[in-house]
Amino acid sequence: MRAVDIIMNKRSGKELSREEIQFLIGGYVAGEIPDYQVSAWAMAVFFQGLSPAETAALTELMLKSGTVMDLSGVPGPLVDKHSTGGVGDKTSLILAPLAASLGIRDPMMSGRALGHTGGTLDKLDSIPGYRTNLQAEEFKRLLLKDGFAMTGQTKDIVPADRLLYALRDVTGTVESIPLITASILSKKVAEGAEALVLDVKYGSGAFMKNPADAEKLARSMVDTGTAMGKKIIALLTDMDEPLGNKVGNFLEMEESLDCLEGRGPADLMEVSLELGARMALLGGKAANAAEGRRLCEEALAGGRPRDLFLANIKSQGGDPEKFLALCGNYRSPCGAEIGAAEDGFISRIDAWKVGRAGVDLGVGRNRTEDPVSPTAGVQFHRKSGAAVKKGDSLMTVWAKDEAGLKAALPRLAEAVEYSKTAPAPRRLILKEIGLPAGGPEKTA
Ligand code: URA
Repeated sequence: MRAVDIIMNKRSGKELSREEIQFLIGGYVAGEIPDYQVSAWAMAVFFQGLSPAETAALTELMLKSGTVMDLSGVPGPLVDKHSTGGVGDKTSLILAPLAASLGIRDPMMSGRALGHTGGTLDKLDSIPGYRTNLQAEEFKRLLLKDGFAMTGQTKDIVPADRLLYALRDVTGTVESIPLITASILSKKVAEGAEALVLDVKYGSGAFMKNPADAEKLARSMVDTGTAMGKKIIALLTDMDEPLGNKVGNFLEMEESLDCLEGRGPADLMEVSLELGARMALLGGKAANAAEGRRLCEEALAGGRPRDLFLANIKSQGGDPEKFLALCGNYRSPCGAEIGAAEDGFISRIDAWKVGRAGVDLGVGRNRTEDPVSPTAGVQFHRKSGAAVKKGDSLMTVWAKDEAGLKAALPRLAEAVEYSKTAPAPRRLILKEIGLPAGGPEKTA
């Protein structure tokens, strides 16, 4: 077999055999097939796609390129949530303790910020002392003790994805539905959860810019995950505007606590509760999503998820009292306000532009090795739908340094769009795909 033949077969739209995919992925991980051939293959996949059988084979072969987390001895239900990424998306930080309060264990393995999207690990790392590099034994111990634990992927989990994702990132091949499916699902299956709720985002701040592409991605992931024996539900959710009022590493930890204390912004609460409802359903705690949502609301009102959130900070090396004292105060000294540019209504705040400005501020990064700032970010005082007068404060901005602030301010001002009449309310949750037991699909 030769890599060039596999590339040409895919280039002309032929279906690859499992053996051909194994030859390519196995050879790449072993260092026998060079980056340039795998880049060419990824570009061929970008244009020609993969069949469901090829996608399933790629996912399984990527999974087998490394080790699988052994969670034996940790009683279930083990349910995780994964988002395809966005701006201000902090639902993992809310859902892990919320699910744990319902008796569900969430083995949460997360990633770092890249490009305009934020990363859960960078948010957690903004808490002084917090450790996100747990070894397998400690991860299991904390899962048993607190019901959830938060860590990064260890080096031996899906090494094929680490190599392939870095290559895709610099070759314009990230936004491919089968490659995203294989990348996300190989890691999620390796992490040991029995069931998975997927938050598939659409809009300017998401990989998938429109609902139709997001739906194709959701179906691809649900079909592949189901074929691999996982219980899986996907929600299509809006990422055209940042989620919540705070974007930034520590700022988002703070806003997660706000949600757990019942003071969270409405859009973030809504998406979190609907995702939490599906975690309760897949974890066998509720007969349907409505009951799952009610359980989540009752749990939040009782305060247990907040206690678990603070307990996790302590378990992973932080100091909950110091964290609480930093809330509202831990900000970069380099800040500014942005006011409304005109009278009228805010019709939209472009998530992509905010995320891009976040890279200038120090919230995100362009290259995996770049540092991020814990104390940079944006706090919105008004979002879409709000009536404004010219000059009203729209947001407070904090940057890692003056140069970052100078670069970000015009981008942030430009992210805000205005209308003379009130815009239609945003539809946060568009669709649910893949109920367990092959139930009918529902449109929200
Ligand atoms: N997140 C991943 O982990 N992989 C992708 O391909 C895209 C988003």
